Amino acid sequence: MGPEDVRKALVVGAGAMGNSIALVFARAGIGVGLVDVGRDALDRAMGLIESGLGALVDAGKVGRGEIGTVLGRIHPDTDLEAAAQGVDFVVEAVPEVPEVKKEVFTRLDELCPEEVIIASNTSGLDIFSFAEVARPGRLLIAHWFLPPHIVPLVEVVPGPDTAPGAVSSTAALMQRLGKVPVVLKGFTRAFIVNKIQNMIALAVFELLGSGLVEPQDIDRAVKNSLGIRLPIVGVVQNLDFTGLDLVLDVMKSYGFMNEFIAGKVEEGSLGAKTGKGIYDYGGRAEAEILAGRDRRYLEMLDQLEAIGAFEPI
Ligand SMILES: NC(=O)c1ccc[n+]([C@@H]2O[C@H](COP(=O)([O-])OP(=O)(O)OC[C@H]3O[C@@H](n4cnc5c(N)ncnc54)[C@H](O)[C@@H]3O)[C@@H](O)[C@H]2O)c1
Repeated sequence: MGPEDVRKALVVGAGAMGNSIALVFARAGIGVGLVDVGRDALDRAMGLIESGLGALVDAGKVGRGEIGTVLGRIHPDTDLEAAAQGVDFVVEAVPEVPEVKKEVFTRLDELCPEEVIIASNTSGLDIFSFAEVARPGRLLIAHWFLPPHIVPLVEVVPGPDTAPGAVSSTAALMQRLGKVPVVLKGFTRAFIVNKIQNMIALAVFELLGSGLVEPQDIDRAVKNSLGIRLPIVGVVQNLDFTGLDLVLDVMKSYGFMNEFIAGKVEEGSLGAKTGKGIYDYGGRAEAEILAGRDRRYLEMLDQLEAIGAFEPI
């Protein structure tokens, strides 16, 4: 089934992630069943969907006249079997507990026709090691970010038996939903973003525990440095602007080595200053590359100041 054929989706688990994911499908014109174990959870989810939709309306992303139509596409249900009838794509968003997910996968595998993709929103579990499904080719991870109705990224992660077609269809469907899919070639714990975020969290915990800096000053430091650069150059191209020779020297001074960076330095690919680093700058001169960077940094700085980003919320 192609992504354009998806007319009915199913989201299992109507918590923080599930309710917002259901809203994404509904906004894209796709009917969506939203299943949870109890009516209370579903009532809460529908309330959160309404307030999420309200924020989108206030921001001018959704027309006020569309509210009823979008909400009308979402069908809360406590009966998984009934809700699974005729669905084309499934999102699993139940708690991060292997036993709970395992049971849900098995039921979904029994209830849904084989062409239906089952996409787990796990934050980092190796679901492929414990899922008991007869058709593992349709099982994959599609990892969204809170709140899914606003944050664009969805990491798409295949398991060892996931069909390549399921991966490409899921990525294409995410694009149809207005999301930005990034496809990994295989499972790695915590995928991309949480792997990086976890390392940041460990550093923050160390600083908080050290008493060497006030908590607010950690945020002030990050907002006034990485906060301006990361949206423009990410965490990889940033290395090109530092200079990979310097990156290597700094790592050595901490007692680390990295073959990937060392290889780049050895071949003379040092970053923007040599026109090639981890990125290839297509023969452009260093000054031209830096001018493109600086223009974006300056615009970012203005935007962040304009929305008061340097003050705590
Ligand atoms: N919260 C986040 O920031 C975030 C981000 C990305 C991924 N995730 C992942 O998404 C998944 C859901 O997280 P969440 O934050 O929405 O959790 P949550 O606790 O807010 O929601 C989970 C919902 O699933 C329901 N549920 C439990 N068992 C069920 C079952 N058998 N059938 C149907 N519904 C069932 C619960 O009643 C609850 O409403 C987890 O795997 C989590 O790791 C969370």
